[in-house]
Amino acid sequence: MHTVIQVTQSFEFSASHRLYCSSMSEDENRQVFGKCANKNGHGHNYVVEVTTCGQPHDTTGTVVDLASAQRVVKDRVIDRFDHKHLNHDCEEFRSMNPSVENIARVVWDRLHGQFGQAELARVRVWETPKTYAEYDGED
Ligand code: NI
Repeated sequence: MHTVIQVTQSFEFSASHRLYCSSMSEDENRQVFGKCANKNGHGHNYVVEVTTCGQPHDTTGTVVDLASAQRVVKDRVIDRFDHKHLNHDCEEFRSMNPSVENIARVVWDRLHGQFGQAELARVRVWETPKTYAEYDGED
């Protein structure tokens, strides 16, 4: 029997960002991003849901070591972005707009291959209680 189970853990970080593309005019930025393009940025309480998957271990019945997985996400994602201004403090977003879509992709890249036997299945990033982006890799 090959039963693959997904396990999701939830995390939070708070950060500022500004949605703005320097290749576009002020007016275009205003049209596309509205008040999210305001010069000095604004903040969000982001929620990151990390889903790993695999076959539950015969004896323990677990897919992933939850404590280790938590440490990985804390070290590689939460500590890196929490209480930062994403555009200014985080190298990833110096030249890439810190949209929730791009944040989901960056989080995926930082976590992919970091969970031992378990595989990263999906990253979901909530920017507001109404909006999330998710990414599950290229193929
Ligand atoms: Ni925003």
